[in-house]
Amino acid sequence: MALNWVEIDLAALRHNFQQAKDRVSKDTALLAVVKSDAYGHGMVPVARELAAMGARFFGVSKFWEAMALREAGITQPILVLVGIEPADAEEAVRQGIRPALYRLDHAEMLNDAARRMQTKAKVHVKVDTGMGRLGVPPGSLESFLEGLWRLPHVEVEGVFSHFATADERDKSYSALQMERFSQALDLFRRKRIPLTYAHMANSAGTLDLPGAHHQLVRPGIMLYGSPPSSDLHHPADLKPVMSLKARVVQVKSVPQGHPIGYGRTFTTPHAMRIATVPVGYDDGLPRLLSNKGSVLIRGRRAPIVGRVSMNMITVDVSAVPDAHEDDEVVVLGSQGTERITADEIASLCGTISYEIYCSMGKNPQRVFLNASTGLAS
Ligand SMILES: Cc1ncc(COP(=O)(O)O)c(C=O)c1O
Repeated sequence: MALNWVEIDLAALRHNFQQAKDRVSKDTALLAVVKSDAYGHGMVPVARELAAMGARFFGVSKFWEAMALREAGITQPILVLVGIEPADAEEAVRQGIRPALYRLDHAEMLNDAARRMQTKAKVHVKVDTGMGRLGVPPGSLESFLEGLWRLPHVEVEGVFSHFATADERDKSYSALQMERFSQALDLFRRKRIPLTYAHMANSAGTLDLPGAHHQLVRPGIMLYGSPPSSDLHHPADLKPVMSLKARVVQVKSVPQGHPIGYGRTFTTPHAMRIATVPVGYDDGLPRLLSNKGSVLIRGRRAPIVGRVSMNMITVDVSAVPDAHEDDEVVVLGSQGTERITADEIASLCGTISYEIYCSMGKNPQRVFLNASTGLAS
C-alpha cells in the first residue's frame, strides 16, 4: 500500500478540453500544451486522451518530450516551444516535429537537414510581441524573413507569439501585443509567405480574448482544471484533474504545551489529537504550508501544525474525533463536500497553481482514473 499517491482524473481532463473547444469557432484548432509532463499530470496518458478528443497539435518545451510522444504513438504534429538543438534537426524533420524558430543559424541547420533528406522542415516562427522572453523582435522580423527566403527547405507552417498579461483584468497590454502580432502577420502577407497557423492564445487568451484565436489556440493550465487567474472576464467551468492523497500512519493524544515538529514552531495550546500523515515537501507539498495549510480527513479540514518536513506532516485532528490510523487524507482534491485546490495552496505560498501541479505531479505513485482510451499508463 502506497503511503501517498497522486490520482489523475482523465474524465475531468476531457471535460476541460471540451470547455476550451466550446470557446473557439470551428475554424480554430487546439494545440494542447503538454510540456513538463503535462504540468505533472502525465504527458503520454494526457496526450492520448486529448488526441482522441481531437487535439490538432501538441506543445512541449523540449525535443525529448516530443520524441517521447512519438514513441508512445502520438501522430499529431508537435511544436517544441523553446526550439531545438542543431543535433536534433534531422530527427525533428523525420518525425514531423516543428521547432519554434527565432534564430537564423537554427533555420540554416534545419534547411541542411531537410535538403539532405530531400524534404522540407516545417517550423513555427516565434515573434516577441511584448513578453520580452523568446522570439524575433518585431523590428528584426523583416530581415529575419529575408534570411528565411534563402532557405528553400524550410517551410514556415506557423507564426506565433505569447501573451504576458492575458490573465489580468486589464487587457490593454494584450491588445498592444495583438496589434503587433497582426502587423507581423501583415509582413508575412506582404512577403508572400503563406501561413497555415497563426497562434497566440494561451488559456487566458482562449477564454478572454476571442480576437486572438486565429487558426490555433494553445491552452495549458485550463486543461488541468485551474483557471489561469481569478481575474478573468469569462471564466470557464473547470474540473481539477489532479489529487494528492495519503493515509494517516499515526494518531496520538498530546498534552498541552507539547512541541510539534522541527524547530518546535508549534506548541499545543491545549490537549490535542495529532495525526501524522506521510506526505512532505519531497512529495511537492510546499514547506511554506508549515502552520498554514490544511488537509481533509473524514470530509473535514484538519490544519497542518508544525513544520512540513521532507516526508511527513502533523495535523490537528482534535475536531475530527473519529479520525483514525489508515484513514485516507486528501492533501489536494476533494473529500465529501470539502475541496482543497491548487489555487488555495498556491495563494498560501505566494505562487501559482502551475508550480503546485508540477511539483506534486513528480510523485512516482500516479494512478490514472476514467481513461477512455484503455492505454493510460
Ligand atoms: C508558449 C506557450 N504557449 C502556451 C502556454 C500555455 O499557457 P497556459 O498554461 O497559461 O494556458 C505556455 C505555457 O507556459 C507557453 O509557454
